[in-house]
Amino acid sequence: MTTDSFRSPIDVAALDAADPLAAVRDRFTLPEGIVYLDGNSLGALPTQTPERVARVMHDEWGTGLIRSWNSADWIGAPQRVGAKIAQLIGAQAHEVVVADSTSVNLYKLIVAALGAQGGRRTVLSEPGNFPTDLYMVETAIATLGAGHRLELAPRDTLVSRITDDTALVLLTHVHYKTADLYDMAAVTAAAHAKGALVLWDLSHSVGAVPLDLDGCHADLAVGCGYKFLNGGPGAPAFLFVAERHHATLRSPLGGWMGHARPFAFVDEYEPAAGIARFLCGTPPILAVAALESGVDLHLELDRQAVYTKARALAAFLIEQVQTRCSAYGVELVGPPAGAPRGSHVSVRHPHGYAVMQALIARGVIGDFRAPDIMRFGLTPLYLRFADVARAVDILEDVLRSEAWRAPEYQVRHAVT
Ligand SMILES: Cc1ncc(COP(=O)(O)O)c(C=O)c1O
Repeated sequence: MTTDSFRSPIDVAALDAADPLAAVRDRFTLPEGIVYLDGNSLGALPTQTPERVARVMHDEWGTGLIRSWNSADWIGAPQRVGAKIAQLIGAQAHEVVVADSTSVNLYKLIVAALGAQGGRRTVLSEPGNFPTDLYMVETAIATLGAGHRLELAPRDTLVSRITDDTALVLLTHVHYKTADLYDMAAVTAAAHAKGALVLWDLSHSVGAVPLDLDGCHADLAVGCGYKFLNGGPGAPAFLFVAERHHATLRSPLGGWMGHARPFAFVDEYEPAAGIARFLCGTPPILAVAALESGVDLHLELDRQAVYTKARALAAFLIEQVQTRCSAYGVELVGPPAGAPRGSHVSVRHPHGYAVMQALIARGVIGDFRAPDIMRFGLTPLYLRFADVARAVDILEDVLRSEAWRAPEYQVRHAVT
């Protein structure tokens, strides 16, 4: 499937019939009658996961009890699952570990990078980056109290703003709102030319777009487990540190799981030699088991087929929305059809929140990002072209009928 643009009339059934991933949909639990376009925010439940987690609970916890730290290799789970994620991001097995949340991992790696960058004082990012990324820089800088500052540069000038004072460039590889995609190799090379390190947030990239961290000479990365990896709500995150930085970077959170010999119970902190130094506390084994199940499913699949279908779904949605919904004030945000992008599509509408609520009430689940963005995640593992076509039918109907004006769709929920 190489489709990046579509000519009318579109034979949706033929597209689905030609989909090499069509059977993967059956590997997920999806409610009847729902078109789920939010897998970029919370991935769907793999059918194998409840059984996997139940086994860990009943056999490993219930029967194995504390022995399972050794007999079921609970203690090795962060590295074991990290090594599996490494395969999805083009890293070596010992460069990735599962730990904490993306926010906490950002904090650990920001402070570690600043500590390794001597007198350099600037962290460079872009305005509109995912909030937690910017907040974590601000709080890391405040904690360090060493005169660092956060500088924000729009992406078209960002590379030119990297200077001899730049300690770290922090970017989200696929933008959470627009799905704009950075050229990881080019930005990394430009940063290295000035002596800066780069920390990539892969939350909207892993499992959705091709990644080759080692091929790009990437330094550092973090990413969520609950989005395209289907690890479940609040799944643990992962972090990547290139092997060449293992000896020099130190985590600011020196918990015992990052110690060289945690079970020596000595008083002095000595960081582990490798990626384990970025662990902090005891891993959440049930949550790691659910994440491992999602990652295992990804590892069964032809990754090229996944990325190709993701692009085709995005191109299909964009063309359909532009053709059928532009007259109602809907405007594409982010790359045009066929351009490099992440695997979600965002459109702007002045009443985007209410329109999204009306869609959700009709079984089309996307999300809303303030102030006016409706976001549709296109998960190639379980979405059919027919699902996308149905979503656009319903969107067009909601817009044409102005069904979104109903009072119940104006009520703001805590999570949008
Ligand atoms: C780019 C990006 N980074 C980080 C996060 C969230 O991090 P955490 O799991 O720590 O809440 C998100 C959540 O949507 C995100 O989109």
